[in-house]
Amino acid sequence: MLPVLYPHLAWSDFLAFLNVFKQSEVPFIEGLKNKFQSRYAMTFYSGRAGLYNILKAHGIKNKSILITSYTCCVVTEAIVQSGNKPVFIDLNGESFNAKITKELISKVTDLGAIVVTNLYGITQFADLEGFQVNKDVLLILDDALSPAHVASRPKDVYDYVTISCGVRKPFSCLGGGVVFTDKDANYEILSKYVKETRKQISYPEKFKKIFLSFLFFIAFQPAVYSLTCLIRYKTGLLNSFFSERYNEIHKESPEYFVDMQPFQKRIGVNQLKKIDKLWAKRREIGNLYFSGLSQEFAWIKTYWNSDAPYSHVPFLHPQRDKLQNYLLRNQIETERYFDYVIPEIAQYQDKGDYPNARNVAQKIINLPINVGMNEGSVRHVVEIIKQFETEHHA
Ligand SMILES: Cc1ncc(COP(=O)(O)O)c(C=O)c1O
Repeated sequence: MLPVLYPHLAWSDFLAFLNVFKQSEVPFIEGLKNKFQSRYAMTFYSGRAGLYNILKAHGIKNKSILITSYTCCVVTEAIVQSGNKPVFIDLNGESFNAKITKELISKVTDLGAIVVTNLYGITQFADLEGFQVNKDVLLILDDALSPAHVASRPKDVYDYVTISCGVRKPFSCLGGGVVFTDKDANYEILSKYVKETRKQISYPEKFKKIFLSFLFFIAFQPAVYSLTCLIRYKTGLLNSFFSERYNEIHKESPEYFVDMQPFQKRIGVNQLKKIDKLWAKRREIGNLYFSGLSQEFAWIKTYWNSDAPYSHVPFLHPQRDKLQNYLLRNQIETERYFDYVIPEIAQYQDKGDYPNARNVAQKIINLPINVGMNEGSVRHVVEIIKQFETEHHA
């Protein structure tokens, strides 16, 4: 089975995981600031916890938070649980990102923050167009899936930038999240709030976390991966790991008050050393898909970018389910990372209409992008997709 994606876990990561005597707090923060070109960096239990803490620290409550309708639903959960209301925007119809305009902003009452999202490592549509909003409104950039963009972000625009270090993210520490800011005042506000509210994780929870993370080292090994897939597809036992769409949005999550775990920071220090190489590999794989598929599927030239360090390879097809099964029968694993429009899932039941987001959600599968792939394996996926196209249009 060709895995869709997995964290790059080398022996050095395993040693870092085991080395409980290694102090990584300071090297990790310094390494993050350096690599991501930021004045300050703070760690959290997850990316969503970072966003939750930002909103709480600034006393943003009962406000509207402007956000794309097509992203990970855990982000909007954090908004709801912070006591605010997500106001959703449709995608712009030519990318996986929503374009936030002055006109859109002016229509929202009680605006507390704007979350700009760069999905899948593709960034050209997401940056704000150099305009200022009211200084009481926070501008937050969610680069969870596009961490390579953080260092080159437009300076002095965003109040905060968040990334996720989750298992299947482009910068993975087997969990955790980071918040960056360049503004002294923001750092003061956020660090003060965190100092006052932070809690220790209980020992049973800590051991559970360490044990599950140990399993990641095994489950993603090429020799074991077929078994992981078998468990996933035949039993559904790992469904909650692969999809978070059924979470309870109204129950505050205890994880918001916990720090990233020491073993994750140790792995992070190690991952930082190889991150440029891993991003280069993602660019290389993305470019191979681009050149292999963009002639046959013209939309790719608009929606994708060449030379982008993709987190996922987002492929749209009107017969998505059939294509996914066809690829699976050919030992190619894909996934549907976000196959929903957030306001339309049960927890939200928004009456709004999001046709561009729905179009993407109904057609998307994510093609394999793992660092074990070579030119031959990408070309094989491209060939099988073309074969599917020929058989189904014949
Ligand atoms: C675009 C995006 N932002 C934020 C997050 C939240 O990250 P975390 O799972 O670390 O809370 C995710 C998670 O998948 C995501 O895809």
